[in-house]
Amino acid sequence: MCNVFLLLLLLQLLFFFSSRISTVTASVSYDHKAVIINGQRRILISGSIHYPRSTPEMWPDLIQKAKDGGVDVIQTYVFWNGHEPSPGNVMQIPFYSGFCVCCAFFLFFLFCFHFKFLTRLIFTLWGKKNQYYFEDRYDLVKFIKLVQQAGLYLHLRIGPYICAEWNFGGFPVWLKYVPGIEFRTDNGPFKAAMQKFTEKIVGMMKSEKLFENQGGPIILSQIENEYGPVEWEIGAPGKAYTKWAADMAVKLGTGVPWIMCKQEDAPDPMIDTCNGFYCENFKPNKDYKPKIWTEAWTGWYTEFGGAVPHRPAEDMAFSVARFIQNGGSYINYYMYHGGTNFGRTAGGPFIATSYDYDAPLDEFGLPREPKWGHLRDLHKAIKLCEPALVSVDPTVTSLGSNQEVHVFKSKSVCAAFLANYDTKYSVKVTFGNGQYELPPWSISILPDCKTVVYNTARLGSQSSQMKMVPASSSFSWQSYNEETASADDDDTTTMNGLWEQINVTRDATDYLWYLTDVKIDADEGFLKSGQNPLLTIFSAGHALHVFINGQLAGTAYGGLSNPKLTFSQNIKLTEGINKISLLSVAVGLPNVGLHFETWNAGVLGPVTLKGLNEGTRDLSGQKWSYKIGLKGESLGLHTASGSESVEWVEGSLLAQKQALTWYKTAFDAPPGNDPLALDMSSMGKGQMWINGQNIGRHWPGYIAHGSCGDCNYAGTFDDKKCRTNCGEPSQRWYHVPRSWLKPSGNLLAVFEEWGGDPTGISFVKRTTASVCADIFEGQPALKNWQAIASGKVISPQPKAHLWCPPGQKISQIKFASFGMPQGTCGSFREGSCHAHKSYDAFERNCVGKQSCSVTVAPEVFGGDPCPDSAKKLSVEAVCS
Ligand code: GAL
Repeated sequence: MCNVFLLLLLLQLLFFFSSRISTVTASVSYDHKAVIINGQRRILISGSIHYPRSTPEMWPDLIQKAKDGGVDVIQTYVFWNGHEPSPGNVMQIPFYSGFCVCCAFFLFFLFCFHFKFLTRLIFTLWGKKNQYYFEDRYDLVKFIKLVQQAGLYLHLRIGPYICAEWNFGGFPVWLKYVPGIEFRTDNGPFKAAMQKFTEKIVGMMKSEKLFENQGGPIILSQIENEYGPVEWEIGAPGKAYTKWAADMAVKLGTGVPWIMCKQEDAPDPMIDTCNGFYCENFKPNKDYKPKIWTEAWTGWYTEFGGAVPHRPAEDMAFSVARFIQNGGSYINYYMYHGGTNFGRTAGGPFIATSYDYDAPLDEFGLPREPKWGHLRDLHKAIKLCEPALVSVDPTVTSLGSNQEVHVFKSKSVCAAFLANYDTKYSVKVTFGNGQYELPPWSISILPDCKTVVYNTARLGSQSSQMKMVPASSSFSWQSYNEETASADDDDTTTMNGLWEQINVTRDATDYLWYLTDVKIDADEGFLKSGQNPLLTIFSAGHALHVFINGQLAGTAYGGLSNPKLTFSQNIKLTEGINKISLLSVAVGLPNVGLHFETWNAGVLGPVTLKGLNEGTRDLSGQKWSYKIGLKGESLGLHTASGSESVEWVEGSLLAQKQALTWYKTAFDAPPGNDPLALDMSSMGKGQMWINGQNIGRHWPGYIAHGSCGDCNYAGTFDDKKCRTNCGEPSQRWYHVPRSWLKPSGNLLAVFEEWGGDPTGISFVKRTTASVCADIFEGQPALKNWQAIASGKVISPQPKAHLWCPPGQKISQIKFASFGMPQGTCGSFREGSCHAHKSYDAFERNCVGKQSCSVTVAPEVFGGDPCPDSAKKLSVEAVCS
């Protein structure tokens, strides 16, 4: 005990010295207008990139693309269950109990001379003994240092409850089994664990000098996550917990402000912040706190069984401009890059492996156009207004029934935001000495109160259509049949009755076998009548495969509105002992909801057999044997060495459309640098690995329900508004990071639960199919706006810029129309007015080139096709 005390003392000293040794270079504070860095109020644009949802090899490029997109701050959660997969408990670790006083002094002595080396050594040992993990995709310090190297700030949302569609909301599953624990309330064991992890993270950040006042990039931290609604539900203990969480965090002395999101009663000095699709009406709980939008949802997450949500770029930009015009000074895009729920990290149940989120950078790290470019332009326009925005509060004046102007005017600066909230009509408004046309549901930005440089509904940047193209020749597969477990197997545990799944598996695997025997006497009537008995199984979820005497009898799975499932089917039983083997499958643990940690999974019953001589037999209370996981998992069939341990078959013996089957193949990396994915459309449900790395759960067999209609950017957005993939798999393509591949001799392993055709699996690469521009005549130009404002450039004519990615060229003009074309990129069509020479200029200037630009003016297209009407140009060019 005393040794432990000494070690802790030593560490304290170490922290003390490390914080003194660092140079204090900057400070972060806030007032009612903005976050203040180094004495300067800042309008900050932030973007969420979650480090474990991409690979360290992808990080530099993602961060750079965020920077190029006008982002100042990267925001990330901290993923507790990734960092502490097994509980750390210093007191139980032999290393510390054998640690002598002399060692402590000796170390301290050494420390004075070899500060850096010893800091590392002690923290490595400390981390190891506490079973912490900060490597590879979980290398938080590396991620933050890359952000710093790119010259960006970082907002660290420690949580440690994070929601985030992440397994168990970020909590390690072992936490649920700490005696006496109750999550996210005034509960001793929970608070102790939360404090320990928070201290661990803050300590790490301090020792690496990552807080802004130490010269690092971290300008803000977050404790808890959207606790307000929970507190509202549970009352007094919730209030006490909020206060405790805030006090605990503030006492850690990070030197930078803390925020609590969706927490109206966040105690000072915590800043309460807003999350949502829109936040323009949000007001922090004190006048001296800035208006921060921590989660501006750029789209929404995909669920297995759900359609894929998209949020139009115009509405995204509109919501941000609306927040800024109302005095908001900090906006974070959740997500800026969503990425992938690799392995079994997806929350749930039923959160898909892709966490693309329709974010400005797509799952593969490529800019999603027009969203990425349109928001980049918005950020430029906002930054032009920054001096005015941080100086004064806006004056709001009505300009019509549904139009207003927000003016930020001080002695030296003036910026204005002209807003039209009408969802149908363009409106001409008068402001100052000018007249301004405002498209529906849009905001125009005037950094000098005269010149429009940007309108949220006018896309100045190009759009693109992406495609997945074949990237490999077909694989040569081998298969291995997973064994159907039975109650007689050696490695089973027998108990009376039905047990909750996660209690038994501790979430080490998705799979749990429930095994029992049913004795059928020779005099059972159904044996003669042929009227098979009805087996009914109630399960708390999430999916179930039922085997009778080793044969698959059927499969059932829960749905998005209810993860519970019922299996009810007549089954064939024979005289004597019949083996019932139920494979219960979890598909991600819940990440949100009041006391989500208490939600059950697995076969909780009743399990009944109807149609016997005795009537209905209840099997629920009889002896059940349990087997955790699959045989193939315990053999490590997804790894190179493990896969050697069994006999695989191939050729005509290859298993096809067969449940519970492992497949493997060796392959060479597809050439090139384009991002890669596996097309799994021929498969049902399971998991995939490349060189031992778990790519995630595949479930293309789960078809997206719901309606996918037209999508109009104008009008209030919600996650059901603009969706695709209805009637198709919710997720067909599964991202395979390039860095997981060797040039040759890679191992791809697939475990298939339902039965699929592995010969249909292929590698595809993500490339640009075509690029589009959609430009209005007289559309505002960001470029050279000051020259325009000062009259040096008269009536600027916008240009349509087209640009194919490196290695591709414009091969064809698929569509061009100057006039009144309809539709969006990929589905443009001519309207009532069309200039007949619309194609000519593009064919002349663009075909055969990587990029080109064409002025949008009537004379370029052979004259004005409909004078007196507002016209635009829509063009789509094929990249090959
Ligand atoms: C928020 C939550 C995030 C994420 C988001 C939906 O309420 O704070 O972690 O879950 O919803 O994507």
